[in-house]
Parts: sequence; C-alpha cells; structure tokens
Amino acid sequence: MKVTVVGAGAVGASCAEYIAIKDFASEVVLLDIKEGYAEGKAMDLMQTASLNGFDTKIVGSTNDYSKTAESDICVITSGIPRKPGMTREELIGINAGIVKSVSASLIEHSPNTIIIVVSNPMDTMTYLVHKTTGLPKNRIIGMGGALDSARFKYRLAEALEAPISDVDGMVIGGHSDKGMVPLTRLATRNSVPVSKFISDERLNQVKEDTKVGGATLTKLLGTSAWYAPGAAVSGLVQAIACDQRKMFPCSTLLEGEYGLNDLCIGVPVLLGRNGIEKIVEIELTDAEQEHMKESADGVQKTNGLLDV
Ligand code: 2OP
Repeated sequence: MKVTVVGAGAVGASCAEYIAIKDFASEVVLLDIKEGYAEGKAMDLMQTASLNGFDTKIVGSTNDYSKTAESDICVITSGIPRKPGMTREELIGINAGIVKSVSASLIEHSPNTIIIVVSNPMDTMTYLVHKTTGLPKNRIIGMGGALDSARFKYRLAEALEAPISDVDGMVIGGHSDKGMVPLTRLATRNSVPVSKFISDERLNQVKEDTKVGGATLTKLLGTSAWYAPGAAVSGLVQAIACDQRKMFPCSTLLEGEYGLNDLCIGVPVLLGRNGIEKIVEIELTDAEQEHMKESADGVQKTNGLLDV
C-alpha cells in the first residue's frame, strides 16, 4: 500500500506520521515544493521508527512526482493555511491553482489513485478536483467532517464530563465556520442520547463551539491546526487501505442525495478499498435539512468563484 502526502507542512507531516505509526502502509511519500523540506521531515520521521515501532518507509521528495508513481491513495494538504480572523473561503485565490496543479501531477503518475482533499476551502477544492480531473466520484474524497466530528466529540465530552470513548457524534454539511451541521439530536453517551444528560442550552453551546473549532485554534496558534487534521486524514486513509467500510462524514459529489446536486459537501459515507463505497442517506429533521440547504448554498457561492 503506497500513500502520497503532498504538502510537508504541519498537517501533511502529522498525517504522514500517524499513517506510519498505524503501520498499515508499506510506503508514504511526503512531497513539498520547498527544497529539502520534505526530505528533512521524512528523515526525521524515519528516525522515530525504532522508537514508535513502525516499518512503514517514509520517503521525502522535492517536487518530483515520479517518486509518487502508482500511489494507491494521495492526500492533498498543500496550499496556504488561514491566519487568525480569516475564513477558509478567503484562501481560494491561491489554493485553487495549487490544488488544480497538484491533482493533475498526481494523476499523471498514479491514474488509478484515490484522492483525499484537505486544502481549504475544502468542499470547493474537492469540487475543483472533480471538475478538472474527471476521476470517478468515488475516488475523490474531501476531509472535513471527520475533523469536525472529532471536535464535536471533544466538546460533548467536556460538557458531559465524560471520557471521549463514551461519546459519539457526527458533523455533516460544509467544512466552514457557518456551514457545519453538528447532529446534536443523534449524539450519544454510550448509546444514550446526550439530551438525557445536558440541557438544550448547553448542547447549543457545544454546537456553536464545534462550528468555530478551527477558528478557535487558529486564534490561539496563529495558524491552522495540524494534529487533529492530520489524525483525521490518517483515519480515512486507513479505512480505505484496510477496506474497513467504516462510516465517516466526508465531502463528496452529490447528485440528488439530501436533495442536493452538483456540489461537494459533508455527508455520511462508507469508506473502503474503492474509496467512497456508499453515500448513506439518513433521515434529517426539517431544521437539519434546512441547515444543510443553507450550508450547501454557502458552498455553491464559494464554488462560483472557481474558474472551471
Ligand atoms: C481546520 O478546521 C485546517 O480546516 C482545518 O483546522
């Protein structure tokens, strides 16, 4: 199993590290345009192999896509991260050109690959990859909901004063500060609805804190987060590599599902060796469906800025 991660910045390097530590891939290629940067990070990560107990081989490359040839899965993290106060959508001007070029180079050397898009604005970047590559839609996956759901569970556990392992919850919709749809109605504490333990007011605060989870960290860090994004991507990669048929909220092209068409947005999907094996349509309340529609309108507005 060969995985390529484009972008050796904090997110890409964290993703490569988590993939290596899980030790399900034979090789991870870490590629960056900055001279020597990916090679340095790869070497540093390889020097943790004996300490963290993995045999995965991590190889660095300065913009040589031939090193990525025949990758089973390619992760695109390249592009600029946001600064405090910025929205993810403001990154489109620079990141669209980068993602278009990177995806074309990846497919040139790995025509059968599955692409996971992380670069922001992620839902629009995922749609861009669809429009510019022509890859089958099951092989183009946007990572946002897995990260947002992890933040949702973090906030739920905080409110419940419960171990995170007892908590489950999912965030669908756009990966944007206003567009996320945390499904508080379906969140559980060890299969018991969380509404049995916390008030609607507190649950609403959990929802709002989740929606700005990325911005909260960007304000604290001065740049976008990287540990949880890297870990979230590694979970998607593992589900595909190990054919787990595991359910995640991922950004995928909708063609009528959830009453939405011709956009990529976060919905529950099953991930396996073919990438997106199935889009799972769950029953939404009228309010949840309305939030999804509003979220989709926001994504469509950003998509309108693309030159595709
Ligand atoms: C985040 O929410 C980088 O969009 C990513 O942290």
